[in-house]
Amino acid sequence: MSASRSVVAGRRTALVLTASDRSAAGTRDDDSGAALASRLEGLGFAVERDVVPDDRDAIAARLRDGATRHVLVVTTGGTGLTPRDVTPQATLSVVDYEVPGLAEAMRAEGRLQTPFAALSRSVVGVRGRTLIVNTPGSPKAALESLDAIVPVLDHALETLAGPFDHASADRASDGG
Ligand code: MTE
Repeated sequence: MSASRSVVAGRRTALVLTASDRSAAGTRDDDSGAALASRLEGLGFAVERDVVPDDRDAIAARLRDGATRHVLVVTTGGTGLTPRDVTPQATLSVVDYEVPGLAEAMRAEGRLQTPFAALSRSVVGVRGRTLIVNTPGSPKAALESLDAIVPVLDHALETLAGPFDHASADRASDGG
């Protein structure tokens, strides 16, 4: 990774990726993506947004691409129990390793709001030096989930920024 990929005019950058058949088709506004982007901008990130259908390969391709340019990728949608909910599977196919504690923290905080938070299969993982975070599809659930990990987000990203062995991180990402 080059130092420039994750910094725009001195700001860290993030990708907000919405997985939604309807938003991708233009029949539903991407309110969740907008809400996440606004929150991340408030935290100092320069944010790129993208929308993709609930298609595992399409999501995985966007995640791989996003991880080449951003220190953080936050997805919204597709974490539930239906056959079209494939964001966690796509995420697992591209990460080098999971960060289970962050996914657990999101669900734990969510369950304080609603027992339905347990129905999200959100995954958090690392690809190279990029943290990939799944959040559920509603704006409220997406924000509650992101907010649950904000207290540790800076430290997580600082840790991933290194220094550590570049070569092994790059090699780990080549496979998926
Ligand atoms: N998490 C939080 N914090 N708040 C919520 O309201 N809704 C749940 C859950 N996670 C919710 C939440 C519901 S109702 C579902 S079905 C799952 O997320 C999956 O949502 P998704 O399929 O839109 O990703």
